[in-house]
Amino acid sequence: MSTTTTPAQAQAAPGARVPGARFALRGVRLGRGPGVVLDGVELEVEAGEVLAVVGPSGCGKSTLLRTLAGLLPPLAGSVEQDGRPVLRPDADRALVFQDDALLPWRTVRANVELPLAIRRVPRARRRATAADWLARVGLAEHAGKLPHQLSGGQRQRVQLARALAGGPRAVLMDEPFGALDARTRAEMQDLLVEVLAGTGATVVFVTHDVDEALFLGDRVALLAAGRVLGVPRPRDRSAAGHAPHEALREEVLRSLREDPAAPDSTAR
Ligand SMILES: Nc1ncnc2c1ncn2[C@@H]1O[C@H](COP(=O)(O)OP(=O)(O)O)[C@@H](O)[C@H]1O
Ligand SMILES: [Mg+2]
Repeated sequence: MSTTTTPAQAQAAPGARVPGARFALRGVRLGRGPGVVLDGVELEVEAGEVLAVVGPSGCGKSTLLRTLAGLLPPLAGSVEQDGRPVLRPDADRALVFQDDALLPWRTVRANVELPLAIRRVPRARRRATAADWLARVGLAEHAGKLPHQLSGGQRQRVQLARALAGGPRAVLMDEPFGALDARTRAEMQDLLVEVLAGTGATVVFVTHDVDEALFLGDRVALLAAGRVLGVPRPRDRSAAGHAPHEALREEVLRSLREDPAAPDSTAR
């Protein structure tokens, strides 16, 4: 086994800042089998930003995310990361899903070590990095447990730790908090903001929850409507109720009411 350290491995240390990935989608058509789900998608994701992607159920959010991940090739157009086509999954892009994808037979610690093992990080450093990320997400005491011994919220914390432990340049999240109760969900949103700070990673966060999109996103992409809106900062829950926030919220809600099946409502 090679022991050479690539730049990516050097960045795997907890808290190390990575250069965030930049994505560009041009004229992208997505679908499975004969069905076209999205067409004419033009989208840029800037390095280090959190782009929230909202759209009604079935409009193609998960399809778009799978394409960014390199799991589903576009039917037409180009999908590039940092000027190179995205052709296959890469450890540079971590994925987080709603249904936790933890390995049930591995301990919490071993799950978090997984991306580091893939990057051939030596065992001692793997241990230390996993321990650090588990502490950051508040699970230091649970490292030796199996996933089924944790609550849904705790399992999503493990997923978050696992996603970030490998020092990815992009984190692609598909409604990761969708199955959680409102209070746990808000806690996870705060935790996400906290753990992302300083990583430099670019985040694409898919949600159908307008308030989640406005709280987490630096920008919000309205998938069905094909528009991208900037979200004024600071990031603050108390912004809710204020006029500029409400206007933005109204616009996102309007886009969510648009019919995803209508021919002229695809992103462009
Ligand atoms: N595995 C699949 N095979 C065929 N069609 C699918 C598959 N997954 C989703 N679709 C279809 O693709 C469209 C978009 O789905 P999806 O990307 O999951 O939407 P969203 O995540 O926004 O709810 C829907 O019409 C859905 O029925
Ligand atoms: Mg989906």
